[in-house]
Amino acid sequence: MSDQLIIFDTTLRDGEQSPGASMTRDEKLRIARQLERMRVNVIEAGFAAASNGDFEAVRSIAEAITESTVCSLARANENDIRRAGEAIAPAAMGRIHTFIATSPIHMEKKLRMSPDQVVEQAVKAIRWAAEYTDDIEFSAEDAGRSEIDFLCRIFDAVIKAGARTINVPDTVGYNVPDQFAATIRSLIERVPDADKVVWSVHCHNDLGLAVANSLAAVQAGARQVECTINGLGERAGNASLEEIVMAVRTRRDVFKCDTRIDTTQIVPASKLVSGVTGFPVQPNKAIVGANAFSHESGIHQDGVLKHRETYEIMRAEDVGWGANKLVLGKHSGRNAFRSRLQEIGIVIDSEEQLNNAFTRFKELADKKHEIFDEDLHAMMSDDFTTPEQEHYRLVASRFHSETGETPEASITLSAGGKEIHASAEGSGPVDAAFKAIESVAKSGTELLLYSVNAITTGTDAQGEVTVRLAREGRIVNGQGADTDIIVASAKAYLNALNKLHDNVQRLNPQV
Ligand code: KIV
Ligand code: ZN
Repeated sequence: MSDQLIIFDTTLRDGEQSPGASMTRDEKLRIARQLERMRVNVIEAGFAAASNGDFEAVRSIAEAITESTVCSLARANENDIRRAGEAIAPAAMGRIHTFIATSPIHMEKKLRMSPDQVVEQAVKAIRWAAEYTDDIEFSAEDAGRSEIDFLCRIFDAVIKAGARTINVPDTVGYNVPDQFAATIRSLIERVPDADKVVWSVHCHNDLGLAVANSLAAVQAGARQVECTINGLGERAGNASLEEIVMAVRTRRDVFKCDTRIDTTQIVPASKLVSGVTGFPVQPNKAIVGANAFSHESGIHQDGVLKHRETYEIMRAEDVGWGANKLVLGKHSGRNAFRSRLQEIGIVIDSEEQLNNAFTRFKELADKKHEIFDEDLHAMMSDDFTTPEQEHYRLVASRFHSETGETPEASITLSAGGKEIHASAEGSGPVDAAFKAIESVAKSGTELLLYSVNAITTGTDAQGEVTVRLAREGRIVNGQGADTDIIVASAKAYLNALNKLHDNVQRLNPQV
């Protein structure tokens, strides 16, 4: 059995299915470049048939990435597979990942197909995919609740048709480790030519067992794990990449395999994904949480000072903590600025974009002495918004808050190119700012979440605000960053409104 564990990252596809986590094409490209830098084997770049925007995103990633395989998801129908095939065509290494549900409940109630029809459709799907690439992955959706005899039958059929990777998803996070491992072991024993394919798992976290189930499957012989940065994903999320990678690396004695991941890129990837999606990382999250390597109790601190391994099984620097370099300051020049952007995977297309970005960098450097990579990522997020995506823009603002007085906000917005002034009072300056914006936008949205995070340390750090808005079942996250958190809040609110305004409709692959 191979001692290489393939890391298949699906942050850009399943991760994007988290409510409110939708990303623009440029955001996806930045994350894809970071995944490539981290040496992920396969990047699932999206679901090409979902919308034209998704198609373009997969295609741009396929054009840009050379060191990782670029994959598109496709339901087992001809249109989805042809869209996926066209989207991955420019890739140096391209994969089509096709799937169909195999559990009795999904076949009967969702697909309304008989088991025979499902097998027939799966085989057809592999044949269509084979017109575009040899690298074909087949997933039996809801395998975790499927009958083992039927799984053996469909896997045998798709392997004969040309599938090279067989993925066993626990779509609804129903399995427990021993049972899931037994399923994988039994499939590998029973399916003919099992040794000619890579066995893969894709676990959801509904019972908090996604990582445990994936690792149990690795011990049972799976050699690909599908996972996401920060465990992002549909509902409670997917198995988290950082936990899988560090578990097999730290306990090679148990897992008898390893990944090719450059683990020092893990924390930068986590911060990038959190910044782009607006999903903060909980402080006690393994590997990438702010407290993952900090020791509070005196006994632990004493032990670590005497001998680090008394309380630490991994080194913080090995997963990328402390790697945030002081990059630039107010005296840095344009070339240094441009080359640092390139180093962190931000590609500037034109001199005009560079000039605009450099002006904003100088403004930030005036407010904040030390500029870190995270500041650049936050600053550049705004920069990739096209004028069409920016219906609302904050032009100017003034906030007043004083003990014993009602806070007030006075803002000037550009709305569809027209400048509008509005003021409002609120229970605090953020509330006043949102009310002032709403007096113009009249969006009819509900505010589901408001959160502020300091991007770096220090009281001069930029605050990164996330705002989640809902309207008629659609949920969007908006982000804004500024050294003034009221301004950051107003920007985040407008960013969310812009996403609602840019009313892109897309399919969800599981529907
Ligand atoms: O959870 C799931 O079953 C999926 C498949 C499409 C692999 O995301
Ligand atoms: Zn999934």
